[in-house]
Amino acid sequence: MESPGFADLAKKGVTPDAGTVAEVRPAGPANLEAIAAIEHGRGQLSPSALTAAVADPYRHVVVATVDGAVIGWGKTHYWDHDDGPAPSGHYLGGVTVLPAWRRRGVGAALTEARLQWVWARAPHAWYVVNADNAASIELHRRWNFTEVARGPRFHTTTFRGGLGLLMCAKP
Ligand SMILES: CC(C)(COP(=O)(O)OP(=O)(O)OC[C@H]1O[C@@H](n2cnc3c(N)ncnc32)[C@H](O)[C@@H]1OP(=O)(O)O)[C@@H](O)C(=O)NCCC(=O)NCCS
Repeated sequence: MESPGFADLAKKGVTPDAGTVAEVRPAGPANLEAIAAIEHGRGQLSPSALTAAVADPYRHVVVATVDGAVIGWGKTHYWDHDDGPAPSGHYLGGVTVLPAWRRRGVGAALTEARLQWVWARAPHAWYVVNADNAASIELHRRWNFTEVARGPRFHTTTFRGGLGLLMCAKP
């Protein structure tokens, strides 16, 4: 099976302490269940929206796997119109790594893969983040994202606490 899931990964005895390296690759239909399991409880993506994102040629959905099991994922989103200070373009649309696998470079690898995909198609990559999300802001710093605007909403994204940042980076 291509994506055995986290329970099977645990059964194999593969743990974050085993010095394993995650592989990042485009997501396919076989990964939908595992991605949904990672998102469970975060309430940010319906199953139908996830299925549509994976099938959409204007978006790049990637997974990080260890021995075929998904331990993290990320996606892009394409906006075809401007919304105030937030222009049309390709946006990094969220990245999540299972808590046990964090601080091992997986989030950075998922972001690098998405940025290379965006920069092959557009001169700028966009990203919005909750102003309180220090982990995400630090994660994206190495690609020299600069703040373009701050506000309560960009396109359809609103922010718990009320303040988000609109960020932009060039290759
Ligand atoms: C943000 C997230 C994806 C980072 O994933 P990760 O695999 O731990 O990230 P990496 O190991 O690649 O970290 C790369 C760099 O990001 C920064 N970073 C990551 N987590 C951090 C944290 N909790 N606090 C401060 N900086 C952090 C560090 O600079 C880190 O480099 P270092 O480990 O050498 O110090 C992960 O914490 C997560 O899934 N969070 C919940 C979902 C979320 O908030 N997603 C972002 C929405 S925009």
